[in-house]
Amino acid sequence: MSNIEQTLSIIKPDAVERNLDEKIKSIFVKEGFKIVKEKKIKLEKIDAEKFYKVHETKPFYYDLCEYLSSGPIVAMVLEKENAVSSNRQIMGATDPKNANEGTIRKQYGISIDKNSVHGSDSIENAKKEINFFFKD
Ligand code: CMP
Repeated sequence: MSNIEQTLSIIKPDAVERNLDEKIKSIFVKEGFKIVKEKKIKLEKIDAEKFYKVHETKPFYYDLCEYLSSGPIVAMVLEKENAVSSNRQIMGATDPKNANEGTIRKQYGISIDKNSVHGSDSIENAKKEINFFFKD
């Protein structure tokens, strides 16, 4: 039975700044994702705070929001069978040091903060995050 899902992916400021967006998008396409929606934007800090609200009690919350709003990002809706888990595999572990060979974060991530991409961690959060960027 097919299980087509959508997930939200963000190409973060460190990757956009290094002009890696087309390269990262081509990895998703090669892995069978359809990029259903896409936009390049620069968030205000208040929007980054809303986006990462689930992390508001974490010690890294302030820096995280500061960082996500520090430069342009590319937000995308990716579609594929089991898109949420597939995207997380392709991204690799949050900390590039721990990411598997061949993953996006292993190849391009600089640090746990500048880890080049974000991906929704569950179907429920994917819906919320897609709605955050692409309210039609
Ligand atoms: P992301 O998948 O976008 O979700 C939250 C982000 O917080 C995460 O990627 C990291 O870039 C960042 N972060 C910074 N410090 C930590 C930490 N100790 N644990 C998890 N995420 C962290």
